[in-house]
Amino acid sequence: MDVRETWATRIGFILAAVGSAVGLGNIWRFPFLTGESGGAAFLVVYLALVVLVGIPVLLVEFVIGRRSNRNPIGAFTELNHSQWKIAGAVGALAGFIILSYYSVVGGWVIQYLLAGLTEGYVAGEGAEAFFAETASGTGAIAFHAVFMALVAGIVALGVRNGLEKAATVMVPSVVVLLVGLALYGSTLSGAAEAYQYYLYPDTSTLLADAVSVLPAAAGQAFFTLSLGMGVMVTYASYVGEDRNLLSDTGLIVGIDTAIAILAGLVVFPFLFTQGIAPGDGGPGSIFVSLAGAFAELPAGNLIGAVFFFMLFLAALSSAFSIFEVVVSFVIDRFDIERAPASVGLAVVIFVLGIPTALDLTYLELYDQFANNILLILGGLLMSLFIGWVYASDAREEIQKGRSASWFGGFWLTTVRYFVPPVLLITLALAVIEYYEFIQSTFF
Ligand code: PHE
Repeated sequence: MDVRETWATRIGFILAAVGSAVGLGNIWRFPFLTGESGGAAFLVVYLALVVLVGIPVLLVEFVIGRRSNRNPIGAFTELNHSQWKIAGAVGALAGFIILSYYSVVGGWVIQYLLAGLTEGYVAGEGAEAFFAETASGTGAIAFHAVFMALVAGIVALGVRNGLEKAATVMVPSVVVLLVGLALYGSTLSGAAEAYQYYLYPDTSTLLADAVSVLPAAAGQAFFTLSLGMGVMVTYASYVGEDRNLLSDTGLIVGIDTAIAILAGLVVFPFLFTQGIAPGDGGPGSIFVSLAGAFAELPAGNLIGAVFFFMLFLAALSSAFSIFEVVVSFVIDRFDIERAPASVGLAVVIFVLGIPTALDLTYLELYDQFANNILLILGGLLMSLFIGWVYASDAREEIQKGRSASWFGGFWLTTVRYFVPPVLLITLALAVIEYYEFIQSTFF
């Protein structure tokens, strides 16, 4: 067994975790899902789930990782509960599906980056036409291939570390750009209506709305925090025991959530001003609204290219973390070398993504299954394991590196009695919803 290094500095672990968490989930997926799910009620449920379920489950993954010093595949065996490996398999399957369309969207980002450097952005109907052209067809397939090749190539060459360091520049730049765009958005004619829609839930229907948006909001909370797949198990396996997992968790969740909220503050004023109903924007919301904005801003093409470059880096660092889980699983399960496993998987994931690059219906088909069902199932299994099978060791583990002793007990009670029922209900609703979606789409 090789000796494992631990992160040299606290910041190393946080950067890797933030690099995985902050990505297309915050800036592309969150605003479009909020738009599709009716606005403020979705935001409320999403935020509640991030705090009440996301934080405890992130700690579950951190505890499994630090305790076992293994990735999710080896972790359960190391902890002498190898039958729970199934949680790792669920996560690997989710990663496999997620990466196939994540890479397609990553390809859109590259195309938008290039557009800023070449022909420039256009507003209005031109923005919608440009998105339609970008999102499906040969261009989409070609840039999906480019993105996937970059992910596999960089991981294979082992220069990933350098890119994670790019997070030190990327995260603050994304925040500055989003704040700037949000301020500009606040001056637009559609701003007031947009804030009403995004920030003020209709309290008379909130409860009913909450039930209907639960699967999507839970899927998003897991997706954006990179939960349910074991990514965070892997990162925490390198963390020293003197570190306070709780304060690291607070920082990671805080940054991730702030970026998502900001993305909404950018997208909705632009959509409303352009006269696009938020529910109609779909997966194109961020692209259409921002291209429209960049077309009108002074030096907009340059600002746009910088923005999409930052988004590209954010997407890449998230994609690595997904790819890593899938590759580790295949190496472990089929006993293949890392290099051929990486190349072979990159090809298979590319092929799996082609339908999405041709028809956006597949995006929804893949995305709902992987996020709303598989990630939640993965999180449920890991929480059950920690809450019911491994509780006393887990309690000891979380206590390391921090002094207040009440927290371990509080967290464990949450993981035992609160998280599993919430995730079970969510899962049941998600399965029903998915069944109906398939019925209405294909039959
Ligand atoms: N959290 C990433 C994002 O928001 C996506 C991701 C999901 C990464 C699951 C790893 C695991 O873009």
